[in-house]
Amino acid sequence: MIIDGRKIAQDLRADIATQVALLGRKPGLAVILVGDDPASSVYVRNKGDACKEAGFYAEKINKSSDITQAELLAEVERLNNDDRVDGILVQLPLPKHLDASQVIEAIDPTKDVDGFHSENIGKLMQNKPFLRPCTPKGVMTLLATIGVGLVGKNCVVVGSSNIVGRPMAMEFLNARATVTICNSKTQDLPRKLKQADIIVVAVGIPKMIQGEWIKQGAVVIDVGINRLDGGSLIGDVDFESAKEVASCITPVPGGVGPMTIATLLENTLIAYRVREEK
Ligand code: GUN
Repeated sequence: MIIDGRKIAQDLRADIATQVALLGRKPGLAVILVGDDPASSVYVRNKGDACKEAGFYAEKINKSSDITQAELLAEVERLNNDDRVDGILVQLPLPKHLDASQVIEAIDPTKDVDGFHSENIGKLMQNKPFLRPCTPKGVMTLLATIGVGLVGKNCVVVGSSNIVGRPMAMEFLNARATVTICNSKTQDLPRKLKQADIIVVAVGIPKMIQGEWIKQGAVVIDVGINRLDGGSLIGDVDFESAKEVASCITPVPGGVGPMTIATLLENTLIAYRVREEK
């Protein structure tokens, strides 16, 4: 089966819109984009559109790529203190002269809808999650929606980034799966993958994972988004060979990507409710 991430994400967004329509104040999301990287610009536009469609208050803040660290920190602080804003997202990557880690740590953890602040990552690690990183959480929603159980399963995560690989591994551990974390340097990756009931790949290498490395019936989740010279998008998994052995597989595009955005709305609604209850 090819997993229809667009449809699952659309249903989630519709459910969120229904909840938002009943609220007094609109949940607010502020997205900061520094510079004009084409891919980041598209992601930020898609996030803003999804917000508006779900009835959120959306604020897009576009800063020039020569912004200083102090100016960016001041912008975050302004949003920390803005009552219309429940969620703050700083689109990554930032230009080289900026310290992304310091910017993330400056976000109020209760407004950190990306779940990247060390306080939120720490809570996820201790299995006391609050705001969870959107892509791994979106993968968990996908798996739950299609009825993939995780208790006792062998999950192999390929990639160890702070945005996807590491929090993904923690999500699986929290769901009582057995987790192996690999990276682009792992020795004999095919042998590791052959053990996997569920594979998540997020390395950014086009078609790195071959169908013959995958166990018959495994579930394959491809987080990779690689743009080829012609402009088309492909994943980290060789889709044509992998779909022959996988029981379920996500396409690129139309798999994990839409779930990340829907989960961002979900997190903003969580942050909103926490703020309203205070
Ligand atoms: N860049 C790529 N993925 C993400 C994400 O989930 N959040 C942010 N802020 N930047 C990203």
